[in-house]
Amino acid sequence: MRPEPNEYSRQWFEIFHMGISEARTMQETAFVCHRAPLPYFRKVVDVCCGMGRHARALSGRGYSVIGIDRNDDAIAKARALAGGSSYLNSDIRDYRPESGAFDLVIIMSQSFGYFDATTNREVLGRLAAGLREGGRVILDLWSPEFFAVHQGDRELKLPRGVVREHKHIEGDRLFVQLDYPDGYSEQFEWQLFSPAKMISMAKSVGLMPLLVCTDFDEATSPSPTNPRVQFVFERCCVSSTTRQEESASGVITEKQIAEFRHR
Ligand SMILES: C[S@@+](CC[C@H](N)C(=O)[O-])C[C@H]1O[C@@H](n2cnc3c(N)ncnc32)[C@H](O)[C@@H]1O
Repeated sequence: MRPEPNEYSRQWFEIFHMGISEARTMQETAFVCHRAPLPYFRKVVDVCCGMGRHARALSGRGYSVIGIDRNDDAIAKARALAGGSSYLNSDIRDYRPESGAFDLVIIMSQSFGYFDATTNREVLGRLAAGLREGGRVILDLWSPEFFAVHQGDRELKLPRGVVREHKHIEGDRLFVQLDYPDGYSEQFEWQLFSPAKMISMAKSVGLMPLLVCTDFDEATSPSPTNPRVQFVFERCCVSSTTRQEESASGVITEKQIAEFRHR
C-alpha cells in the first residue's frame, strides 16, 4: 500500500531535514522570540515539529515547549536530542488542546494546509482555541504567487545524489512529487493561502492579523519572487500590555490588510 501524501519518508528527513543549518533555525527562532517575547508567551506548542529544531532552540531560551508530530522516527530523534522540550506523537487532526492551554502556537516550514479546506480550517480553529486570549499563532508558509510561476520539473543536485522534483498547482493546491536517487518516490500536497485568504480564514476562527512578512524579516513584505510568507496572528481579545511593548513598525495595519485583499 502506498503511503498517503505528506507522510515524509526517511529519505526526506535525511536529505531535506537533517541538513538544515543552525543559522537558519536561529534566524527563524529569533523571529519567533521577537514576535512572542518572554515572559508573556512562555507556553508554546510546535505543530508538526519534525525533529524538534525550533522546540529545542526555544526551550534553550526559556520557553516551555511541546512539539507534536505524527512521524515516529522524527519524534524519537527529537526526544533523543533532548534539550528541554517534551513531545507528543500524534496526528495533528487528532490533537485537541485544552482551552487556553498555550500562549503561542508555531507552525513552521509549510507544515499547514495538508488536508481539505474544511479540515485545514478545523485544525487552525482547534489550535486557536488552545490559546489564551492574547495568545499568538506564527505560521511560516509558502506563497501561492511564487509557486504559480515555478511549476514543472527541476533537478536538485544534493550531496546524496540527484532528487527529481515535479511541482504543479491545481486550484489552490500545490502538488509535489520527489523521486529519490534510490528509486523511491513520494507525493506531497498542500492547500496554499494568499495573505488575504489566510487572514480571512484566521479571522473566522478568532485570530486577528498582526503581521505578514517574508524572509523572517518584519520589514520585508511578501512578493511573488519570494517562496515564503510569515504570518503572526493574535487570539481575540488583544492584550494591551503586550501590544504596547511592540514596535509599532511591525504591526499590520487595516490599510495593509485591505491591500493584501486586493492582490
Ligand atoms: C516540512 S516538515 C517541518 C518540520 C518542522 N516544523 C521544521 O520546520 O523543521 C513537516 C512535518 O510535518 C509532519 N506532519 C505531516 N503531516 C502531519 C500530521 N497530519 N500530523 C502531524 N504531523 C504531520 C511531518 O511528519 C514533518 O515532520
